[in-house]
Amino acid sequence: MIIEKTSPEVGGMGHPIKRKEDSRFIQGKGNYVDDVRLPGMVYGHMVRSPFAHARLKSINTEKAKQLPGVLAIITGEDLAKAGLAWMPTLFFDKQMVLATGKVLFQSQEVAFVVAEDQYIAADAAELVEVEYEELPVLVDPHKATAPGAPILREDREEKSNHIFHWEVGDKSATEKAFQSAPVKASVHAISQRCHPAPLETCGCVADFNKATEKLTVHLTSQAPHAHRTLFALVGGIPEQNIRVVSPDIGGGFGNKVPIYPGYVCAVVASLTLGLPVKWIETRSENLQSTGFARDYHMTAEIGAEENGKVKALRVKTLADHGAFNAAAQPTKFPAGLFSVCTGSYDFPNAFVEVDGVYTNKAPGGIAYRCSFRITEAVYLIERAMDVLASQLKIDPVELRRRNFIQPKQFPYKTPLGWTYDSGNYEGALNKALEMLGYAQLRKEQEEKRKKGELMGIGISSFTEAVGAGPAHTFDIAGIKMFDSAEIRVHPTGKAICRMGTKSQGQGHETTYAQIVAQELGIPASDVVVEEGDTDTAPYGLGTYASRSTPTSGAATAVAARKIRDKAKKIAAHLLECSEADLEWTNGKFFVKGVPSKAKTIQEIAFAAYTNIPAGLEAGLEAVDYYDPPNLTFPFGTYICVVDIDKGTGEVKVRRFVAVDDCGNVINPMIVEGQIHGGLTEGFAIAFMQLIDYDENGNVQGGSFMDYLIPTAVETPHWETGSTCTPSPHHPFGAKGVGESPNVGSPAAFVNAVVDALAHLGVKHMDMPITPWKVWNVLKEKGVVS
Ligand code: CDP
Repeated sequence: MIIEKTSPEVGGMGHPIKRKEDSRFIQGKGNYVDDVRLPGMVYGHMVRSPFAHARLKSINTEKAKQLPGVLAIITGEDLAKAGLAWMPTLFFDKQMVLATGKVLFQSQEVAFVVAEDQYIAADAAELVEVEYEELPVLVDPHKATAPGAPILREDREEKSNHIFHWEVGDKSATEKAFQSAPVKASVHAISQRCHPAPLETCGCVADFNKATEKLTVHLTSQAPHAHRTLFALVGGIPEQNIRVVSPDIGGGFGNKVPIYPGYVCAVVASLTLGLPVKWIETRSENLQSTGFARDYHMTAEIGAEENGKVKALRVKTLADHGAFNAAAQPTKFPAGLFSVCTGSYDFPNAFVEVDGVYTNKAPGGIAYRCSFRITEAVYLIERAMDVLASQLKIDPVELRRRNFIQPKQFPYKTPLGWTYDSGNYEGALNKALEMLGYAQLRKEQEEKRKKGELMGIGISSFTEAVGAGPAHTFDIAGIKMFDSAEIRVHPTGKAICRMGTKSQGQGHETTYAQIVAQELGIPASDVVVEEGDTDTAPYGLGTYASRSTPTSGAATAVAARKIRDKAKKIAAHLLECSEADLEWTNGKFFVKGVPSKAKTIQEIAFAAYTNIPAGLEAGLEAVDYYDPPNLTFPFGTYICVVDIDKGTGEVKVRRFVAVDDCGNVINPMIVEGQIHGGLTEGFAIAFMQLIDYDENGNVQGGSFMDYLIPTAVETPHWETGSTCTPSPHHPFGAKGVGESPNVGSPAAFVNAVVDALAHLGVKHMDMPITPWKVWNVLKEKGVVS
């Protein structure tokens, strides 16, 4: 499928246009939750636990209450009286809103102070006296089910720290294949606990109007409608009386999918006081208590022939979920889409097991710029393929080539149950190799090794699964996944497009307008795109997991086509011919063979309100709720070249080539931006970022002093390229792209470092690969003393 480009003036798909709306950041117009100012607004501040595991003996709020300007202090006991002490998580566990009985992780929410300004609220929080009795702390997930481990969740019937066991694939066929495999390679890899750290932390302004009984919540939300429904179901407020508004939220990356205790407390406080209540986290609160990502401890084994042809994959994983299972993923997938871990390779057999456990750490397991655990899966298989290549002394490029699923095999059913829609893995690999000059660099590496210099090349040929999702399989907290678009064409031919998704900086304002331009010929500059207000937008599941293009993007095209169908009827009326005599091109209908007898979409729009054919409703608008038949499976090859400084252990990324294939592209400039951002995040995860805990459960990495964000100084130069393999089932052949670089890149970085050290006997290194870690390996191997 090839997208026919509209003229650049119209700005349809395939044009790198930039729209005015996107310049608001440069103009400095504040439109964030933190910018919301309402008359009478008051401020909430959390009291948090300094301990990771402790019994709550008492909470004394008397001193704090006496501070002038303090309006209310809410404790877990107060919430318990209203039946709100616990809230459901997105994965059907429950989570304390404010601690009752005991605390389960450092920085857990204990009490909520409301005051006239944020400084008084913070001072009063300091005056809340909490008496704790420390309990033994469980930090290591491997010890969670060991005899004698402290049982963390006393509220559960099951007296165990084990949350779930999940398996998929054919166990006995996989065992059999392993028995007959002449080669076995294995790797134990940790996808470490990290955090999306969005620019704006989480927060809200809850505004309950006692006169109208309407609750408006300005919320850092990636899924405003789902959050509205959950507020209605849990809080008992009629859904029509709740309005969730999610403005610019400074990035989400999965962090803004769950509901957090701060949101609930602000709503409760506003209901109680009848005033707007604002709660915004600090940076450290965001890192320490809201949704973490990853924390998967994985072992992969590959059974293969001597020539490297893979026969079977066996994976065992321990998932650390922290104190509550607050993973944001569909009900059917306790380990998200981790079972795409056969990757781009034609494995005849596979079997995967995942066990989730509780520990004394912050809850989460959110999809940080990935489709529910796909980053972990891709990292594992791409590392395992390199381990196999190294064991067999086959070039990692060659090993991948021998095992790729071939273009003619699509649609391809994996042994773990997924049906990949389309792909040409070798095409992307070849392009990346060519851009890089692979053969030359391998020669250079050989030369450098002779001189004792350390240089490595790492490859990742990843497959992604985005576009959640087909409603028969995917839901969020039970709400089926689909997404929506509503387009209204005004009499003057301008349009408004309202969506169920919610941009967090991905440029939806531009790209959805381009889809309308492509489908209807209305210039993109004449289309306003609105998202994030539940009072106006059609119901949708929001934006995460690169689902916007595969779902709402598709809905936009389908809604536009519905409008075009109606426009045809009006055109036939205006041109006094039958619909069968009409043809469509670039924004107008014309009589076949007589191009001058034509009506533009603007003329038709005017007629829709002024000159309607008998029997047809006035107006020109349509809505579509799109339920995709399948996920889309974008892919790509990333290649990283590193040089290692032996003296300091510092890894320098010399080159990074990223070839992505997301099918047909709506806006190449935006896609390029998505790739740059995601690669930078992948780079940070590979080399810098870890949320760690000491043996007492104290968070290490709970501020930007320890949890490092790459600046322009550290960030490598990205070289991007693309191939185009359209999705056969998407209305205009597009696949999602936003998360591909974060999903595909960590393995390329790590593979490059391990490749640089492979001749020293290094088989694997866990992320983050800090200079200290590398230097210690060099010391251990006798390279430095
Ligand atoms: O759900 P999210 O917006 O994060 O991810 P996406 O669907 O991958 O889209 C990210 C941005 O890239 C959006 O503005 C898309 O419209 C744009 N995009 C594109 O121009 N062409 C594609 N084939 C895929 C995405």
